[in-house]
Amino acid sequence: MTDTESPRTPLPVIELDDVRKTYRTGALEVEALRGVNLRIHEGEYIAIMGPSGSGKSTLMHILGCLDVPTAGNYHLAGEDVGRMSEEDLAQIRNRRIGFVFQQFNLLPTLSAWRNVELPLCYAGVGRAERRTRAISALEKVGLRDRIAHRPNELSGGQQQRVAVARALVTDPALILADEPTGNLDSVSTQDVLGLFGELHASGRTIVLITHEPEVAAAAGRVVRIRDGNVQDDTGSDPRTSTDPRTSTDPRAGGASTTLTWEAHQ
Ligand SMILES: Nc1ncnc2c1ncn2[C@@H]1O[C@H](COP(=O)(O)OP(=O)(O)OP(=O)(O)O)[C@@H](O)[C@H]1O
Ligand SMILES: [Mg+2]
Repeated sequence: MTDTESPRTPLPVIELDDVRKTYRTGALEVEALRGVNLRIHEGEYIAIMGPSGSGKSTLMHILGCLDVPTAGNYHLAGEDVGRMSEEDLAQIRNRRIGFVFQQFNLLPTLSAWRNVELPLCYAGVGRAERRTRAISALEKVGLRDRIAHRPNELSGGQQQRVAVARALVTDPALILADEPTGNLDSVSTQDVLGLFGELHASGRTIVLITHEPEVAAAAGRVVRIRDGNVQDDTGSDPRTSTDPRTSTDPRAGGASTTLTWEAHQ
């Protein structure tokens, strides 16, 4: 944030400066990211689109501190990720970021609530509180009556809702989702989008990768990646967003954004 901005200006929670990622596999080098500059403000809801192999998941892994850039800087909530210890990074991944993946990544032998409580186990939360919070998260995604079901006893859409519950159980400020609706039918897609809409309305920052235009349309901003670079960005500041679903009050932060389609849930 610069000195001239008002205190009501949403903070850039994510700042990428000339971020590059080169993968080396034997003698082969792949430049997956080639100098990405990106600012994401607190409370924004962003869709990342782009062809297969363009670097979207690589970017998501870096945003989520699951991988580090080969070059360039990443500041998360003002802190230089490149200078953080592995321990700090693990804490951030566990407490401040919620991940949702296309393949759900649920543990098959555990019930829904056991899957959801896992991030709380890693965070050292006590047993009784873990159970209460896991069940409450499952309630939020409409699965109160499925808490004891294992993943293979749930539909794809229900499994993804369990994964969303797992992502939100730690109450993270940032939700990163890599093609969360890629394996879902249109009804389940709407369910999951409804959940993201609610999370956004409650102040979370959401970054979602998708190939589907109707999924991207739910976000207030679309960033297109091509060949490891940002090719197009519909708006880098929520205050200038023209999305009719977002508040037009220039003083309003992302957290106070209201979404009309929230009512569809
Ligand atoms: N672990 C890895 N080791 C080597 N190369 C990799 C690795 N991960 C990704 N790549 C390469 O980096 C490039 C970007 O991959 P990435 O997974 O980020 O693409 P993507 O945009 O997510 O594609 P998709 O839409 O198919 O998921 C690709 O050319 C890929 O082959
Ligand atoms: Mg990908």
